[in-house]
Amino acid sequence: MTKEKIFLLLLCFLFIGCDRTKPPIQFFPDMKNQKSVRPQAQFREPPANTVPRKAKRYPFSDPEGAEKKLKNPLTPTADTLNRGQFMYNAYCLPCHNSNGEGFGPVVKRGFAPPPPLSSEKVKQWSDGRLFHIITKGQGIMSSYASQVDPIDRWAIILYIRALQKAHGGKVNGAQ
Ligand code: HEC
Repeated sequence: MTKEKIFLLLLCFLFIGCDRTKPPIQFFPDMKNQKSVRPQAQFREPPANTVPRKAKRYPFSDPEGAEKKLKNPLTPTADTLNRGQFMYNAYCLPCHNSNGEGFGPVVKRGFAPPPPLSSEKVKQWSDGRLFHIITKGQGIMSSYASQVDPIDRWAIILYIRALQKAHGGKVNGAQ
């Protein structure tokens, strides 16, 4: 094939897509032509009575059970506190605020203010009970189980404990 012919061929390709009244020619239509799924819809329903392979069933339906049985597997170190702070800032700060006192940006825009995490009541609650609240939600606060992995929930709890000690001040260990 001569250079001119190749040039003409390329020119044809260039002008193929120029009619804006018609849908463009698709060279790889496999991504576009598929069974459409509604936004946010699950593509395939899981079979009845099954759980994902890596999922563990959460056994507690009431906070008291979790309060007694669950223990925090993590200890406060610079790493766990930093992770806790990172996850807290992403998932809890919007309502509970950076100091845990409850007037975060979402509350300033009209959401009901949560009670302070530094209250005597929350200080007395075990880590297990806080884990339960993050996992199951409480009242108008929804569950964060699907967003926050169990190990990160424990890290967040360490960070909340540090916030409680710091009374809204700077938390040692975390940056
Ligand atoms: C959308 C706002 C919002 C977010 C985000 C949020 N919470 Fe809450 N939280 C609330 C509200 C509101 C309450 C009070 C709920 C009730 O008892 O009706 C609450 C209650 C709590 C309580 C119980 C406090 C008490 O005194 O009863 C804990 C503990 C808690 N949240 C921890 C967390 C943690 C940890 C996160 C992040 C993983 C989080 N929350 C994310 C709004 C939020």
